[in-house]
Amino acid sequence: MAGVSDLGRRLVDEIERDGGPLPAALAAAFAAVPREAFVAEGFQRRDGRWATPGTAGFLDTVYRDDVLVTKVDAGVPVSSSSQPSLMAIMLDALAVVPGDRVLEIGAGTGYNAALLTRLGAEVTSVDVQADVAERARLALLHAGIAGVRVLTGDGYAGSPGDRFDKVIVTVGVAGVSPQWLAQARPGLVVVPVQHAGTHPVLAVRGEPGGPVTASVICSSGFMTAAGPLSAAHPAGHPAPVSSGGLTGLHPAAPARWPRPLTSLRYRDLWYAAGVWSTRATHAALPGQQQNTLILLDDAGTGGAAILPDGTVLAGGPEAARCATTAATILDRWQAAGHPPMQAWRVTLRPAGDPSAPILAPATWELT
Ligand SMILES: C[S@@+](CC[C@H](N)C(=O)[O-])C[C@H]1O[C@@H](n2cnc3c(N)ncnc32)[C@H](O)[C@@H]1O
Repeated sequence: MAGVSDLGRRLVDEIERDGGPLPAALAAAFAAVPREAFVAEGFQRRDGRWATPGTAGFLDTVYRDDVLVTKVDAGVPVSSSSQPSLMAIMLDALAVVPGDRVLEIGAGTGYNAALLTRLGAEVTSVDVQADVAERARLALLHAGIAGVRVLTGDGYAGSPGDRFDKVIVTVGVAGVSPQWLAQARPGLVVVPVQHAGTHPVLAVRGEPGGPVTASVICSSGFMTAAGPLSAAHPAGHPAPVSSGGLTGLHPAAPARWPRPLTSLRYRDLWYAAGVWSTRATHAALPGQQQNTLILLDDAGTGGAAILPDGTVLAGGPEAARCATTAATILDRWQAAGHPPMQAWRVTLRPAGDPSAPILAPATWELT
């Protein structure tokens, strides 16, 4: 059987296969930190069953480039070790240099915090769930990793009284806490922020009183944060529609492209749709292999779906209006030369509960 260090190198190979070479320090961190130490109580497999260290193939699955769900509440995943390739992109964007003081929101298993220490950071990691935070502390202890302080609390507050160089957020939020910007001046916050039903990762910079701007790093599908970080706001998009939530969609416009967009290009279109329509989100539609970009009508029961080949389906009382909006979005995206999501610059403004405001995406421009 392969040893843990062989498995660590295989994980690096898997991450690099789709994402290209990792910076040497990051590759060394993934190869060296034993991921299994952070899932000692097991995880939920893709088939729904729980895998524990005694389960056949346990280590093999731990060292795949896949998310490991480590806590489920009423059937809903509430903690996990994120997909390593996504962690790698976010850690790369954080550009850690030895000695950096890093605030992590969402300690989860503690694995990302351990990788941060391998990169030379001093880490404070906050998790809202006391049992999850305690498990992360124990995992770090058993793995012999020093340099991480795990706090229990709502990450909205950051770590009051402390100063950081950078912030990394590993849970999906509706906006950035001004406390992070105050604690990490003049820092950088790498954070997945709600947009059209998903959580694209942003690199946010600015002062708590503004201006606060961001560039887009990549798409992601993080679990949603508890508390004020997930506050609803007028510029926010509707939540995704679950399977069977939209029925009676019929063809409203034919395919635009002979071949469907790749999943990456489809996400770029999806991002643009979220810029141009506050009704953009996604739905699980029968017969579609992946979640489908939709423009949900005001009632939330109909609207227009844009398929990866540009076909528009529409249904419900506002079908005609939603189909027209879908066609306009496709025209604009084509006219703009199919911009990738990374081409957008975002400005964030105060939103949410005035007693616990967040800075949420408000305007976008193409660079
Ligand atoms: C995807 S997991 C984090 C993965 C983690 N960084 C790792 O390496 O395993 C998301 C975590 O965010 C935590 N969380 C959710 N809302 C939070 C909040 N408002 N403040 C702090 N943590 C929160 C959850 O309890 C969960 O453990």
